[in-house]
Amino acid sequence: MEAFSIFTSILYLGLIVSQANADPVEDKQALLDFVNSFPHSRSLNWNESSPVCNHWTGVKCSQDGSRIVALRLPGVGLTGQIPPNTISRLSALKILSLRSNVITGHFPSDFFNLKSLSFLYLQFNNFSGPLPDFSVWKNLTIVNLSNNGFNGTIPRSLSNLTQLQALNLANNCLSGEVPDLSLPSLQQLNLSNNFLSGSIPKSLERFPSSAFAGNNISSGERLAPRVSPDQAPSESNVRPKNGRRIGETALLGIIIAACVLGVVAFAFLIIACCVKKKKEDGFKGTLQKREMSPEKVVSRNQDANNRLFFFEGCSYAFDLEDLLRASAEVLGKGTFGMAYKAILEDATTVVVKRLKDVSVGKRDFEQQMEVVGSIKHENVVELKAYYYSKDEKLMVYDYYSQGSASSMLHGKRGEGRIPLDWDTRMRIAIGAARGIARIHAENSGKLVHGNVKSSNIFLNSRQYGCVSDLGLTTITSSLAPVIARAAGYRAPEVTDTRKATQSSDVYSFGVVLLELLTGKSPIHTTGGDELVHLVRWVHSVVREEWTAEVFDVELLRYPNIEEEMVEMLQIAMSCVVRMPDQRPKMLDVIKMIENVRPVVEPENHPSSDNKSESSTPPPPRVDE
Ligand SMILES: *[C@@H]1O[C@H](CO)[C@@H](O)[C@H](O)[C@H]1NC(C)=O
Ligand SMILES: *[C@@H]1O[C@H](CO)[C@@H](O)[C@H](O)[C@H]1NC(C)=O
Ligand SMILES: *[C@@H]1O[C@H](CO)[C@@H](O)[C@H](O)[C@H]1NC(C)=O
Ligand SMILES: *[C@@H]1O[C@H](CO)[C@@H](O)[C@H](O)[C@H]1NC(C)=O
Ligand SMILES: *[C@@H]1O[C@H](CO)[C@@H](O)[C@H](O)[C@H]1NC(C)=O
Ligand SMILES: *[C@@H]1O[C@H](CO)[C@@H](O)[C@H](O)[C@H]1NC(C)=O
Ligand SMILES: *[C@@H]1O[C@H](CO)[C@@H](O)[C@H](O)[C@H]1NC(C)=O
Ligand SMILES: *[C@@H]1O[C@H](CO)[C@@H](O)[C@H](O)[C@H]1NC(C)=O
Repeated sequence: MEAFSIFTSILYLGLIVSQANADPVEDKQALLDFVNSFPHSRSLNWNESSPVCNHWTGVKCSQDGSRIVALRLPGVGLTGQIPPNTISRLSALKILSLRSNVITGHFPSDFFNLKSLSFLYLQFNNFSGPLPDFSVWKNLTIVNLSNNGFNGTIPRSLSNLTQLQALNLANNCLSGEVPDLSLPSLQQLNLSNNFLSGSIPKSLERFPSSAFAGNNISSGERLAPRVSPDQAPSESNVRPKNGRRIGETALLGIIIAACVLGVVAFAFLIIACCVKKKKEDGFKGTLQKREMSPEKVVSRNQDANNRLFFFEGCSYAFDLEDLLRASAEVLGKGTFGMAYKAILEDATTVVVKRLKDVSVGKRDFEQQMEVVGSIKHENVVELKAYYYSKDEKLMVYDYYSQGSASSMLHGKRGEGRIPLDWDTRMRIAIGAARGIARIHAENSGKLVHGNVKSSNIFLNSRQYGCVSDLGLTTITSSLAPVIARAAGYRAPEVTDTRKATQSSDVYSFGVVLLELLTGKSPIHTTGGDELVHLVRWVHSVVREEWTAEVFDVELLRYPNIEEEMVEMLQIAMSCVVRMPDQRPKMLDVIKMIENVRPVVEPENHPSSDNKSESSTPPPPRVDE
């Protein structure tokens, strides 16, 4: 009680303090002027009446909230020239990323006001004209102006950037000789695919020849292809602070393919601006890149306009390129494809699902994504974005750090296991039930989840179940072989009809309940190689004698829950009856579970029960 009120008063104090200097008023006005006079195709949630620091997409403030220090708007479809006297008023700006837009015109001359600028990402735009005098930005660390139409020479003023670690000017129309740049901090350089001539200055000889490829640069033996894979500097070398390693997993491969779309698009730009001087050579660099995976060359052309599609109200600001640069880690192979955890540059963590066997065209796919993406419910994992091209279909979700119900139940059995207590199991059950019921209400009551299983259920910020991976059965080819793990959740009729329905969702949910009660996987082995189907096993145990043997031994330590467990078992059994029309509707299931017990809120959970103390869930994350 005492602790609670102290906590709330601290919280309250914090609110007052942060409100006192919440909004950097002038910076906010600069951004509003920027966005109001700059056409863009993706809507930004920049609401004048909401605080800029925590709510505006792509905007980050200094710690005290007094200034805006980062602006990241990659791939939002900004089209035209940057309106003068807007961004340049954000004089405390350190990070500016406007890449993958359609920005035209010269390098904005008023950017000279951005004296603190450290990271500048303007690649994949349509800038033209000369490069600026760089000597004003003393703190520049990473400069990426690649894939634009800049022309003229490489300015000597780059020598003044003592902090510079990475410079990418590839795929522009720069000409003249490469100046002798003494940049001891420089770790990554790319000047490829320009019209540079002369020779490589001594100071830059340490870089691999691919950094100069696609120019008319002569340098004796340097022209020989002496670049080997281990010589090429890895991008992780230039990570400013946290030298995070780029995940060289499959995700990179996938998304490189997707990103090359952009390269193709800008190949046209390169042709447009460079066509006079050397028609063939100008295209060679990009063509070579495409030749790496010849099977994709054809389709990329028609997909060139594709971008990651974000849903309304999504506060993420990243694009395919960010995903490309993200460190990625395989989370697992799901029914519909691989899932990856991707950590972006700004530490945003998302789950990327790569769908396989998508059997519908773009329109149908988009329509289904619209249906799925429109569901906003605390018990349904929100689809944030998707990507569709001929070769690649991606879905982007929030990442849940606690893992799935499946990993909580079955992970680390034995030594070092954190038991999953009954309260949490109840909250997983009721949350998942509410989520599925919400899904069943969508699309005039016709939407089917189609893949209910414990590895698709996570804990939301209030520690209730939250379902993911919905609505994909109708867009993936139903003939795809079922992997064994999913089979245990399949209603008997689905095996024949191969068509998931709402009542087959109820069946699958029943299996999840059995899993929560027994702690056993839906298909498991006992001793030998004999496969045991959980539903059949529970039936047989229950038929023989109604004992506590069905229940997870882990649950035996919690007192006074037998009655609840038995009632939950009855609900589960009613969900997994053989005849689809005898199963309850999801809304009925919710009522039944709520009758077992008004489910305990984690916040008010009295920890008088010592035995469950060790297993109470971690405090809910306020900001997820
Ligand atoms: C902006 O926010 C206010 C209050 O937060 C809300 O009433 C208004 O509808 C929002 N406007 C837009 C365009 O979203
Ligand atoms: C450049 O960075 C240094 C160290 O982070 C900082 O002290 C200095 O104020 C920065 N310069 C400008 C112009 O922001
Ligand atoms: C890029 O700019 C050039 C002129 O600078 C123009 O001809 C071309 O159409 C532009 N490309 C796009 C995609 O806007
Ligand atoms: C750069 O391109 C512009 C047209 O976009 C042209 O007028 C100018 O002469 C070019 N400059 C150089 C140095 O080639
Ligand atoms: C920038 O570098 C040039 C030589 O490249 C030098 O003459 C000039 O003094 C430097 N300017 C500053 C402000 O350091
Ligand atoms: C610059 O952009 C290019 C093209 O997107 C990318 O391949 C490269 O890694 C970037 N380099 C740096 C230093 O950010
Ligand atoms: C430079 O960029 C080109 C194409 O953008 C790429 O093929 C090459 O590998 C890059 N070289 C280095 C050293 O990063
Ligand atoms: C390439 O450079 C050499 C001298 O460095 C020059 O003679 C030749 O004309 C240049 N070729 C092109 C296509 O510009």
